[in-house]
Amino acid sequence: MRSLTIRGRDPARAVTFAPATLLAPMDGYTDRVFRDLVLDQGSVGGGLTEFIRISVDPVPKKVFRRELGDVPRRDVPVGAQLMAADAEFVAETVGNADACCAAWIDLNFGCPVKRVFNKCAGSALLAFPERMGEIVAAAVRATDLPVTAKIRAGVDDASRLDDVLDACAEAGAAAVTLHARLRRNSYADPARWEWIAHAAQRLHARPEPVPLIGNGGADVAADFQRMLEQTGCDAVMVGRGALANPWVFREAVGGAAASRDEAIAFARGYFEMLLPPGSPPGPIARFKAFIATFRAAGFWDGRDDVRRMLLREPDPERIRAWFDAEAGAPR
Ligand SMILES: Cc1cc2nc3c(=O)[nH]c(=O)nc-3n(C[C@H](O)[C@H](O)[C@H](O)COP(=O)(O)O)c2cc1C
Repeated sequence: MRSLTIRGRDPARAVTFAPATLLAPMDGYTDRVFRDLVLDQGSVGGGLTEFIRISVDPVPKKVFRRELGDVPRRDVPVGAQLMAADAEFVAETVGNADACCAAWIDLNFGCPVKRVFNKCAGSALLAFPERMGEIVAAAVRATDLPVTAKIRAGVDDASRLDDVLDACAEAGAAAVTLHARLRRNSYADPARWEWIAHAAQRLHARPEPVPLIGNGGADVAADFQRMLEQTGCDAVMVGRGALANPWVFREAVGGAAASRDEAIAFARGYFEMLLPPGSPPGPIARFKAFIATFRAAGFWDGRDDVRRMLLREPDPERIRAWFDAEAGAPR
């Protein structure tokens, strides 16, 4: 599969996604632990933090250290995703993300959630391309890393998509990711890849072409190449397909599907990192969210009762005991 390089103001700090695939940011799922486990499986071109909201102050460095780790990955670029309603604290926040070794900066203009939308952040800015452009420009001025924008096709219709694409490009975005749904579609309706094709064409036709990363509905490995070919986009970003099957990236470059042993080791590894023995049962809700989406290697086929038990079980020690038994179970 091809690769994609994006460039900011300093060509020496360009970022290459090789292959041209990215794990999508998903709030509540792709925390650092989960993201690292997915990136460790190989064949993923890049990843992003869950969105980090800028509200009444610049976001401090400790947040970026927590989200990116004290020692950033060297093998796969991981960017920091920021969300802001205006440009006020963007420069200082971007400086902090840069100082904490974010590989690049991504700006979220796609979040449909009401409490975000009502504060005029995330997808609300799709109706205000000028303000979006100011936010991108503020980030670009603050760093020589690449700055990208993640958008949807619009709020209620795609009538402003061209204005949004032009605003991002004119503000200096190094690439745009288009989630091919409207805000009103939330996550449910089918993605409209014709919007990705349109956006790719428009951005590629600029005097200084801007890469377009396609997103939405690339659920299984075969979809990756299909999206690249059908739309002319430069890279594919994958969300829920990777929650269900973290090996989807490996499969997309011709690698094997996950074995059952890999699937159990992944699930157990995530559980142990979230809830080491003796820890308070705080993050168990995250683990349950993971169980609800995980499907690799036919993990739950014919075992709905076990899945239900794990979703309901409040005691981490009982879940640990189940993993012990499962790892030792004959196959
Ligand atoms: C639970 C959930 C949380 C998400 N959180 C974020 C986020 O923090 N930042 C973001 O840009 N997109 C977020 N998204 C959107 C995804 O990045 C992606 O654009 C969307 O899921 C479409 O891709 P898919 O069809 O491959 O899942 C989220 C999606 C889901 C389902």
